[in-house]
Amino acid sequence: MASSDFRRLPGFRDFPPEELAFRAHLFRAWRAVARRYGFLEYDGPPLEPLELYTEKSGDEIVGQLYNFTDKGDRQVSLRPEMTPSLARILGEHARSMPKPIRWFSIPQLFRYERQQRGRLREHFQWNVDIVGEDDVSADAEVLAVAIDGLRELGLGAEDVRARVSDRRLLTALLRDGVGVPEDGMDAAFALIDKVERMPEEVAREKLAADAGLDPAQVDALLKLFELEGLDDIRAAHPEASVAEAAAPLDAYLGHLEAMGLGDFVEVDLTIVRGLAYYTGIVFELFDRQGELRAICGGGRYDRLLELVGGDPMPAVGFGMGDVVLGELLRERALAPDYERTLDYYVVVIGEEQGPAARGLAHRLRDAGHSVAYEFRDRSVGKQFKSAGTEGARSVIVLGPEEAAKGVVVLRDMASGEEERVPPESLG
Ligand code: HAM
Repeated sequence: MASSDFRRLPGFRDFPPEELAFRAHLFRAWRAVARRYGFLEYDGPPLEPLELYTEKSGDEIVGQLYNFTDKGDRQVSLRPEMTPSLARILGEHARSMPKPIRWFSIPQLFRYERQQRGRLREHFQWNVDIVGEDDVSADAEVLAVAIDGLRELGLGAEDVRARVSDRRLLTALLRDGVGVPEDGMDAAFALIDKVERMPEEVAREKLAADAGLDPAQVDALLKLFELEGLDDIRAAHPEASVAEAAAPLDAYLGHLEAMGLGDFVEVDLTIVRGLAYYTGIVFELFDRQGELRAICGGGRYDRLLELVGGDPMPAVGFGMGDVVLGELLRERALAPDYERTLDYYVVVIGEEQGPAARGLAHRLRDAGHSVAYEFRDRSVGKQFKSAGTEGARSVIVLGPEEAAKGVVVLRDMASGEEERVPPESLG
């Protein structure tokens, strides 16, 4: 077979060193921020029982699973998201753990999606979750972590915004403000999730057909999305159930304001989240210009642990992918320049110096320095060229004259300055 027959699968990625360095840059920022908030890192297996997703994640993700039957006749799937695994892991251990549990992870996830800008079949996702705490301050903490993750990478409120909503508030508005019947509620939620990407006429037709709404109800529902902010929403809908359901979101906004993050946050009732398990406040982060898909999504999911067979336990968290975020950072010139570096490059003049060069290089590596040299006899010019290519900060030259005097030449590659030093003084 020709090597062209082994092309990369569509939607999968190679990470040559420059790309990997960029990925590592994101991971470093994510880890630093998570640790700053007291989160501990965990991981789980990339392959899980298929049922973990078919039961809990909702239809959208189930249609995108990389699933198969393994050699032991088990129905399995590559993980499309981390939250069900987290719920499974904590279902087994959480009872004996001090609460709240603050955990984070950076799993590689797989979804058989139609490949498009910002959507691949494989991505890395920063997952940050608080389990065992139902106070709304945990919801605010989680969004603050997500925002700080972006700030750590150089993005500000002028670049990104968090669109937040609460499924309980939307339920009260739909039920008591609009009059959506109980059996039309799921369909209404599913349509609201997509309403932004639909022409208004299509949305109207679907709301009538799928959620059973009459034209006046469709009008009332679409008007909800014109309301700006909680005060507007409460003024337009004075129902007691709406006031009650708006209280957690009100407190949430207050907490974020107190943290100095208010500029990042806006209430947006079209945010409901596609995944089935969310129960309360939900949010998504987008680039301000609205050109890209969501950078991050999350919210409260108080029943998932119980659904996967664990103790009932409240939970809230988010997932932030590396693909859309990478696009945004590159667009804003916030991707660091790739730099290759090496502490020392050892240049030898004449093969006889080989053993001494290897001995010195090894001693320097033992001391924690990065060191490289040519594997075969090359001209001094070529060796210096390699030193430059590899980003060596210093070159050590071992030659017969220096050897006779018990010294090596140490050249600083930036300044060009040279000194003769005994090799024992290095390291
Ligand atoms: P999600 O909204 O499905 O949520 O994914 C979160 C983020 O992962 C998205 O906003 C997007 O940046 C990225 N992402 C998702 N799918 C792809 C893809 N095919 N290609 C590139 N990036 C992608 C969840 O997965 C929830 N489990 C998050 C969560 C954690 N909720 C609570 N805790």
